[in-house]
Amino acid sequence: MSSALIRLGVLISGSGSNLQAIIDRCEVGELPAKVVVVISNKGDAYGLKRAERHNIPGIFLPRKEFPDERSYNNAILSNLKEHGVDLVVMAGYMRLLGKEVLNAYPNRVLNLHPALLPSFPGAHGIKDALDYGVKVTGVTVHFANEVFDEGPIILQEAVPILEDDTEEMLAERIHAVEHVLYPRAIKLYCGGRLQIEGRRTRIKEG
Ligand code: GAR
Repeated sequence: MSSALIRLGVLISGSGSNLQAIIDRCEVGELPAKVVVVISNKGDAYGLKRAERHNIPGIFLPRKEFPDERSYNNAILSNLKEHGVDLVVMAGYMRLLGKEVLNAYPNRVLNLHPALLPSFPGAHGIKDALDYGVKVTGVTVHFANEVFDEGPIILQEAVPILEDDTEEMLAERIHAVEHVLYPRAIKLYCGGRLQIEGRRTRIKEG
């Protein structure tokens, strides 16, 4: 029944391939959720087109139209509230989310990162891991807090770095893992199976 669906607000900055993976899982009923709004800080984010194709409201909020971070984050918050969002999902949103949103959604903001945190945080997780020369990197889904890529970890999956990997080749394998891992973490959240204890997220039996 649609009233039982968890209402997702997805924040993006770019391609939105993870947004697409989430929309697709929702549409086939694999996720008991529905993407009700997509917010981007970039006007040319391809994810906005993906939202449009699925009749999901897509909102472009340019940071430069707001005098400071606080008012920018308050604008994000009012859009989330207006669409009755239950869970905020950052999917390639390349800005730090402000406490205005985090405080309004305590333990209800998820983030995805293309490396095994706490290794290689920041905007270039894939390139940084490759350049460093690690043999294994991966994907992390975690609860967001006020520090970039830092909150309690929900799921991680390793991705080996192969001898002749280029950034593009590695990125392709990382994205393929992301597209499965992020919906899986969202499903755990929707099922009420995540319990935060300090830095640890316990996954309760389903
Ligand atoms: C994803 O690889 C995600 O892990 C990364 O941005 C990409 C977005 O791809 N996020 C970060 O690096 C956050 N620190 P997408 O727009 O195709 O979903």
